[in-house]
Amino acid sequence: MRRLSIRNLHVSLVAGTIAVIMTFQTTPVVAQHLTMDAITIERSTILTQPGVFGVVTMFKLRPEWNKMSATERMGSAAEVAKLIEKHKDNVLVDLYLTRGLKTNSDFFIRINAYDLAKAQTFMREFRSTTIGKNTDVSDTLVGVTKPLNYITKEKSPNLNASLSAATYDGDAPRYAIVIPVKKSAAWWTLPFEQRLKEMETHAVSTLPYMTNVKRKLYHSTGLDDIDFITYFETNDLLAFHNLMTSLASIPENNYHVRWGDPTTLGSILSPEKVIKALSE
Ligand code: HEM
Repeated sequence: MRRLSIRNLHVSLVAGTIAVIMTFQTTPVVAQHLTMDAITIERSTILTQPGVFGVVTMFKLRPEWNKMSATERMGSAAEVAKLIEKHKDNVLVDLYLTRGLKTNSDFFIRINAYDLAKAQTFMREFRSTTIGKNTDVSDTLVGVTKPLNYITKEKSPNLNASLSAATYDGDAPRYAIVIPVKKSAAWWTLPFEQRLKEMETHAVSTLPYMTNVKRKLYHSTGLDDIDFITYFETNDLLAFHNLMTSLASIPENNYHVRWGDPTTLGSILSPEKVIKALSE
């Protein structure tokens, strides 16, 4: 299937270029918006740019889904593939299987789009598909990518260089993890220099994990009731657990008013495979 091969291609390309993908970026936001109409969606580009909206929606299938015939359920995979194809110039769509790992969801969708309205249109039309009509939304997170705030070449040159030099060298990730984060007023009212210091500690603690964890950050303050959507891909869940433990023990953690709740762990699969798995 075409989307599957694109994803696999992406995964292998990303494995060698994590530093580029995960530094959240380069192209000036203004220039990008001026040319928005001319932009088509290219995975490795949209995933590295600032000013890109991310919408993550968790779905729970209703009992009615299981009462439908197997043929009808399987047919939904083709219907969703057609919808993704229809919107391919407007949104990048990824599906993840959470059934068996989470209570409140069976799968989730992540949309990346230059225009939030286009993401909304896709999600609205998805809700009209056979599978979409048979699901309840258990959570929706909205955010936007931005250039680095702290670990920049100017403000933290050594750490910036270390982050750029570190590369992912693990196997193609099989798992994605989404963790919503909200920080307290005490954090936001700290002097910038103090926040920089705390984020430098964060970067030092996380650097060793860049070889086996890929990350992406969306800023949500004002767009949602959280401050960040953090998104990770890995094939090494034990390393990810150790990474979270290490972040739990640094002072920044005193400022978290939400850190997960829910943490969503899903398998990275093509949309077709996700829907087929839910149809069996
Ligand atoms: C490979 C692992 C990781 C690396 C290399 C990493 C590195 C970084 C860096 C360099 C920043 C600063 C971005 C800036 O300058 O604006 C950052 C921000 C952030 N990271 Fe991580 N991180 C990792 C894992 C995690 C994990 C597991 C979490 C847990 C949810 C997390 C949550 C965050 C949040 C919420 C921010 C934004 C904080 C703020 O702006 O106040 N990171 N990360």
